[in-house]
Amino acid sequence: MHLTLQQLRLFEAVSRHGSYTRAAEELHLTQPAVSIQIKRLETQTGLPLFEQIGKKIFPTAAGKAMYAASLDILGRVEDLKNTVEELKGVVKGTLQVSVVTTAKYFMPHLLGMFLQKYPDVEPKLKFTNRAGVMERLMNNEDDFVIMGQVPEDGDLEAYPFLNNILGIVAPADHPLAKKKKITLKALTKERFLKRERESGTRYVFDKMLEDKGLHIEPYMELGSSEALKQGVMAGLGIAFLSLHSVQLEREAGKLTVLDVEGFPLKRRWYAVHSKGRKLSLVARTFLDYILTESHHVLNVEYE
Ligand code: PGA
Repeated sequence: MHLTLQQLRLFEAVSRHGSYTRAAEELHLTQPAVSIQIKRLETQTGLPLFEQIGKKIFPTAAGKAMYAASLDILGRVEDLKNTVEELKGVVKGTLQVSVVTTAKYFMPHLLGMFLQKYPDVEPKLKFTNRAGVMERLMNNEDDFVIMGQVPEDGDLEAYPFLNNILGIVAPADHPLAKKKKITLKALTKERFLKRERESGTRYVFDKMLEDKGLHIEPYMELGSSEALKQGVMAGLGIAFLSLHSVQLEREAGKLTVLDVEGFPLKRRWYAVHSKGRKLSLVARTFLDYILTESHHVLNVEYE
């Protein structure tokens, strides 16, 4: 077989998207150009790689084997590229980091400043909730991940950096807004908007309630901090949120943090990777940057 890396790249994109058109868009090629290359690959393999059922294409057994091999080969080439740059002492190459959705309020800013210093780094930031980040961590898909609640697993290396302060957020004109030392028990009567079950924020809140023998049934379950915030501003209820996510709305006088006994909670943000993982120069440099510079760069201290 005389496969080229370009063919494997095209094949990987077609398989991932399940579509020639979408793969062509991603790679800035025409759809016929992609089809021709895949046809050539099939000729070289001597077997069809995709079969068409209705409007969709599905990988054949040979296609599945080719997909696994292409991920492997392309991953190795990427590693090689990074190793060569590392040997040259240049901070250059891919940086793959997964970030819990709540950290999207500060991670892009950190990355932006980092890229000003190291413009040759090719960043790939993936935002998903805690469950999604954990899955990627277990599959070793990233250089490292950013999360709030690190699983108690001896095989992980976790580096704390910024504080993550979490509180009960309400509209600024809420009847409890001026009240001092509200008990958690009193709050159980309020309408609560909660994040989805897979969220780290939700996990912290539910765990805290459970430890106190309390339970709050969500009035509504919403899939992101952004949706919770909008819901709170719309007067649908109150919510437990990281204060990173409501900084602008608090400054604008739209939202307030209630004075509830035991709150706000002070947690930390962590950069996490599996113990055995050898970080590339790019990943090590970014990790060092986060650990040493995040306070200066973000200029927030939520103490
Ligand atoms: P989340 O995670 O964005 O899934 O709520 C936050 C966290 O891990 O603290």
